[in-house]
Amino acid sequence: MKANDNYTLITGASTGLGKEMAIECARRGHNLLLVALPESGLQELCHEIHLTYGRSAISYECDLANEYALEKMACWMNNNFSIDWLINNAGIGGTKRFEDASADYLDRIIHLNKRATTMITYLLLPELKRHHEALIINISSLAAFGPLPYKTVYPASKAFIYSFSRGLGRELRGTGVRVVVVTPGPFISNPDVASRIMKQGLLARLGVMSAREITIRSLTCAERGQKVIIPGLWNKVNWLLMRWVPEELRLSLMSGVVKKELL
Ligand SMILES: NC(=O)c1ccc[n+]([C@@H]2O[C@H](COP(=O)([O-])OP(=O)(O)OC[C@H]3O[C@@H](n4cnc5c(N)ncnc54)[C@H](OP(=O)(O)O)[C@@H]3O)[C@@H](O)[C@H]2O)c1
Repeated sequence: MKANDNYTLITGASTGLGKEMAIECARRGHNLLLVALPESGLQELCHEIHLTYGRSAISYECDLANEYALEKMACWMNNNFSIDWLINNAGIGGTKRFEDASADYLDRIIHLNKRATTMITYLLLPELKRHHEALIINISSLAAFGPLPYKTVYPASKAFIYSFSRGLGRELRGTGVRVVVVTPGPFISNPDVASRIMKQGLLARLGVMSAREITIRSLTCAERGQKVIIPGLWNKVNWLLMRWVPEELRLSLMSGVVKKELL
């Protein structure tokens, strides 16, 4: 039998933006279902959240890049919980020359960022639709708005999430399920991301926000009904520039900036 209370499912909740989303959702009164890779400290986080905010927080550890593990997770969630919010946050990226990347590296980005986001949404949609009001928040990136050398697959995967979210949002209009897409600029979430951002130089660092700031703005704007959220003024300026600067010029400029991450 399902639990009576409603739950918010957040993927990639052990660190970075997902962890901040979990903490802020609990502060706003949500019960939580948190997913991350095994041995990520998720159980301790759930315990801490329960003690601090008095909300129910349940951990589920699995590799979402593995299609069987994902299906098992979704089935367990659907059978046991009433879920009215889904935050598809888990995502990975990196900076490498395409030819130097291993097939496994590329495959994991594609599987986690594109396939997992699509299939979790697909498998949970009937449950979300049972509710009078439900929300899907998909975490894309500012990188969704233009190709990037040395990151190639990552911005392409985030463009997929953006397009998927916008299309699905319109398709679900009138069902009570809203779809929101968040496109954050850079933020420091772990040592690897920190080192990459620092190497990009001063201009790139200008737009860096904290995961907490992005979380607060995203959840507040999502609750107000915004469908596309670009957190931060500098990132909005960047988004406008991306639309106006011709693609070849943008590629050439960004190639110089991103290449610094390889050093
Ligand atoms: N950081 C940035 O500058 C930036 C900018 C724009 C958009 N984003 C997007 O924002 C989201 C969060 O980024 P972040 O930097 O906060 O990430 P992060 O710190 O690297 O955390 C990623 C989360 O996803 C989980 N995860 C990774 N691979 C997984 C898998 N195969 N199965 C299940 N869980 C998995 C991780 O679990 P473990 O702890 O167990 O590894 C962790 O909880 C991502 O979608 C990212 O693309 C990030």
